[in-house]
Amino acid sequence: MLEANWTGTSTVPSRGLYPHQWSWDSAFIAIGLRHLSPLRAQTELETLLTAQWADGRIPHIVFNPSVPLDAYFPSPDFWRSSTAGRAAGAPRTLQTSGIVQPPVHALAAWLVHRADPGLSRARGFLARVYPRLAAWHRYLLHRRDLGGGGLASVVHPWEQGMDNSPCWDAPLARVAPAPARSFRRADLDHGAAEDRPTDLDYGRYVRLAADYRDGAYRDGGGEFAVEDPAFNALLISSEHALARIARELGATGTARHARAERLTRVLSDRLWDPAAGLFSCRDVRGGGLIPERGVSGLVPLLLPGLPRETAAALVATACGPHFGLGGETRLPPSYDLLGEAFDPHRYWRGPAWFNTAWLLERGLRTQGETARADALRTAFLQVAGASGYAEYVDPFTGEACGATGFGWTAALTLDLLHTRPGDHGSPAAGQHTSGTTSVQGTEGGDGA
Ligand code: SER
Repeated sequence: MLEANWTGTSTVPSRGLYPHQWSWDSAFIAIGLRHLSPLRAQTELETLLTAQWADGRIPHIVFNPSVPLDAYFPSPDFWRSSTAGRAAGAPRTLQTSGIVQPPVHALAAWLVHRADPGLSRARGFLARVYPRLAAWHRYLLHRRDLGGGGLASVVHPWEQGMDNSPCWDAPLARVAPAPARSFRRADLDHGAAEDRPTDLDYGRYVRLAADYRDGAYRDGGGEFAVEDPAFNALLISSEHALARIARELGATGTARHARAERLTRVLSDRLWDPAAGLFSCRDVRGGGLIPERGVSGLVPLLLPGLPRETAAALVATACGPHFGLGGETRLPPSYDLLGEAFDPHRYWRGPAWFNTAWLLERGLRTQGETARADALRTAFLQVAGASGYAEYVDPFTGEACGATGFGWTAALTLDLLHTRPGDHGSPAAGQHTSGTTSVQGTEGGDGA
């Protein structure tokens, strides 16, 4: 699948539904590709980073100019990055979207490096990507601190990546939808309508993106601003990875580790919901935590600095009636099984995704929950294979939804095949390194 989806410089998530390069897809794909070809994994990330804007943002889509305009909506003529994004420093020749996706990239770059440190050093991989990744984190921590409390906000549901999550329903309800006849969806040519967002929600996505574009992609003014636990946990995890990269390049990395620890405390202060037993989203424009349980609220399990009682409460929530991990679900659902909006097939409103299952597997290992991590790993591998490496699945039955032959599902399968069951917080990346450096030790193999 990864061969079929490879374009020569990057990997498409799926040939039909998503025929360009997507930001967080590429990061997850690189994490799997490193086991097949560390060179291709490095190239995947380098290709994405060539589309970075001068203000530091990494766009969520890098368009392939040889794909017809009507193959995907919103297309380059909607985003108009090279003109509308000029003030924000969009590339002049490449066409991109103007919004971002979760910052998995520094984590991916570190894991890719560890798969073949010799090749990485010979190519100067980390030295080349480090300044770009640092600028990316600076953009998120400064330009996107819209709530003023130190966390990054997303300004569009597509930025958080779980587009249609019921967590966005309340903040989205304030957005006047673009008229249905003002745009033509391309996703319904490839995905079943009942697996995809409704036209009404699409209208709101289009309105938010058009307003951002028409404001020259300046940050601060939009109607929608949400602090999301997964987006910020990935930023913190990537900040830890950036510290390790800095150390590999000869710096101490201490300041970055300290910042990641501080951000972990800020995440708990701003988004921990003790009554719900998980992290919630904060609606920065409406004020307050959003009372919905999304899988995003479990992703901070990734963070090594999480207070013990918080981690224990998260594990209990994951295994309880809302997510059914190790019980009634085969893989953790994207949204609360008991939530009013739960739908086992509709985009991010209940189905299980493989990237979040991979993040939770890694999070459980980080928290020393080895047996649960092993069980989730086994379930992941079974369901992924049986579904034809689907984009997402019914969380109870594993029935395939969305696209099949999906890039990150295939890539993360490869990654878990290289993880030794029973490992404690250190997936066995780089067992097959060509470099001389040991991959084991207190940095936790890949580094948590
Ligand atoms: N995930 C979105 C889509 O469905 C946008 O990135 O097109």
